[in-house]
Amino acid sequence: MWGGRFAAGPSAIMREINASIPFDKALWRQDIAASKAHVGMLAAQGIVTSEDAELIAGGLDRVAAEYEADGVPENWDLEDIHMTTESRLAELIGPVAGRLHTARSRNDQVATDFRLWVRDAIDQADAGLRQLQAALVERAGDHADSIMPGFTHLQTAQPVTLGHHLMAYYEMAARDRSRLADARKRMNRSPLGAAALAGTGFPIDRFRTAEALGFDGPTDNSLDSVSDRDFALDYLMAAAQCSLHLSRLAEEFIIWASQPFGFVTLPDSLSTGSSIMPQKKNPDAAELVRGHAGRIVGCLTSLMITMKGLPLAYSKDMQDDKPPVFEAAGLLALSIAAMTGMVAEAKFRTDRMRAAAELGYATATDLADWLVRQANIPFREAHHITGSAVKLAESRGVALDQLPLADLRAIDPRIDERVFAALSVEASVAARASHGGTAPAEVRKRVAEARAALGLED
Ligand code: ARG
Repeated sequence: MWGGRFAAGPSAIMREINASIPFDKALWRQDIAASKAHVGMLAAQGIVTSEDAELIAGGLDRVAAEYEADGVPENWDLEDIHMTTESRLAELIGPVAGRLHTARSRNDQVATDFRLWVRDAIDQADAGLRQLQAALVERAGDHADSIMPGFTHLQTAQPVTLGHHLMAYYEMAARDRSRLADARKRMNRSPLGAAALAGTGFPIDRFRTAEALGFDGPTDNSLDSVSDRDFALDYLMAAAQCSLHLSRLAEEFIIWASQPFGFVTLPDSLSTGSSIMPQKKNPDAAELVRGHAGRIVGCLTSLMITMKGLPLAYSKDMQDDKPPVFEAAGLLALSIAAMTGMVAEAKFRTDRMRAAAELGYATATDLADWLVRQANIPFREAHHITGSAVKLAESRGVALDQLPLADLRAIDPRIDERVFAALSVEASVAARASHGGTAPAEVRKRVAEARAALGLED
């Protein structure tokens, strides 16, 4: 395609290092769509005849049908998906195929194809996250009253409800979707027509191709158009952030499924056994989600470092933009699907959660709050009094609400029998009805809002 000025062909090494077809064949649908939009515009502008344009468009459809049926052939001599498609087109329709590349370059072509691909990846991730949210909301609604220990430092802190805990991940997924939506909105401009770097002398209509490909309009600087990969980085940043959330959720399931916790029985369908220990049921899917987050962050880092320090406009380094994006998108889709299945199918052992919430003096703050409210004691002093009560209960190996009133009154005479009502885990969660708090009523309210936002049936 470019051999005119060369006396010798490329070495084997050159062919191998240059070839992107092994991975960029994933762009074939986008490449065909962009070429069809381009040739339609060339005809509308009178740059090619409508007969030639029709021949080319029909030929592109035939190439697409071949790819669909047999896959994209990998010939390193043809370097990439763009030349592979154009060369097959020429085999099918003859020299008129050569008119397709009028007023464009592979530089704006790849920038366009890749944007279209990333846009699809964003839409897929968004759809997957919506399903994850729906699963979270379903389970949270069922467990708005199920009490479990809430942790800080992974130490029992205060009782919360399982519904509240699950809804925390709903909020994270909502922000992930909003980050993806931001990325989509920002990237949705067409670089097609920027040509090699400087634009073109042909009277093209970039608004027309932009519209045909579902972009909001053309980009505004040709140099930037062919060398901008911010859109891929925006996507990877959103994907990396999302993968961190999925990894944290995976980690919760891993901890909860461990025997000492026993808060959850993982679905068989998302667990594996051990080849030596017959009793084992391992949380491999969750562990791989946790592991994949590391790889996705690595993909982000990889492209950031590729782009760092590149002068305008296109450099071949940028061909390396695709593998990390493809890899991250695949890993993210799998991770979202695995965690959706986990949330939907896990068996929560609410009896174990409830029992664990009774341990660790989870309602100590409620005693301190009670002293503040009922006895008008400053919180710092109430905190100290409560600490003494916890110490006493601990020395006797009992829960706070099992201490006799006389012993509590010995610590502070302002305590009376009403305090016991505040010390149950039910009272503790019910009391936390501040906006966004763990009170079952508050959780149910947020679940209802979430269901409405997701358009779920009642
Ligand atoms: N395969 C190339 C890539 O993915 C296409 C653009 C090549 N442009 C060039 N001037 N060599 O980046």
